[in-house]
Amino acid sequence: MILAPSILSSDFARLAEEVAAAARGGATLVHVDVMDGHFVPNITLGPPIVASLHKATPLPLDVHLMIENADRYLQAFVDAGAAWISLHQEAVPHLERQVAFLRERGVRAGVALNPATPLAALDEILPELDYVLVMSVNPGFGGQKFIPGALDKIRRLRRVIQDRGLKTQIEVDGGVDAGNIRALVEAGAEVLVAGSAVFGKGDPEAAARRLLEAAR
Ligand code: DX5
Ligand code: ZN
Repeated sequence: MILAPSILSSDFARLAEEVAAAARGGATLVHVDVMDGHFVPNITLGPPIVASLHKATPLPLDVHLMIENADRYLQAFVDAGAAWISLHQEAVPHLERQVAFLRERGVRAGVALNPATPLAALDEILPELDYVLVMSVNPGFGGQKFIPGALDKIRRLRRVIQDRGLKTQIEVDGGVDAGNIRALVEAGAEVLVAGSAVFGKGDPEAAARRLLEAAR
């Protein structure tokens, strides 16, 4: 199980310290939300901040692209040091090409699904993916309420992955907290993203530790 704090809810002026604290609490991946104000109604950050963060932490960076025209920016995020990159099925028309581009460059490739997007949208691409990011909120903002339907979606995806003999990991993102993390792990999620539950309470180290304890 991997706890991936989302820096969206951190203090960006103290990013390195915030991430180091979460790492002391047991986080082993850093989730970076990239938003463009088009695919989602919010704007966050781009490759320069990813490059700075990559220098400031030994943890791998998991870049969640919530942007249109992602193909134009993939090389920049690879150069910035992203170890994992997820693309939204709803935003990328030529997914197979972009996924292949990432894997050829040694980046773990994922596809993210909005809550209303059915798993069937992944039927063809699934064997090419290192992970699937199941959104349990509509992307755009931290601190939203968990959409319970995500649990069954994760269970069904776990079954498909097993039945097809694949090694694809399942990541869940949105509204993850100490109250639902255990159920998410039992449903089959291996990568748990948590933003406000880690950075919203003043002590990211203690919050990360608490989440990992709740998950076990
Ligand atoms: C939402 C982002 C999430 C967000 C999660 O669009 O993709 O990564 O930061 O924040 P919480 O855990 O507060 O829902
Ligand atoms: Zn995210």
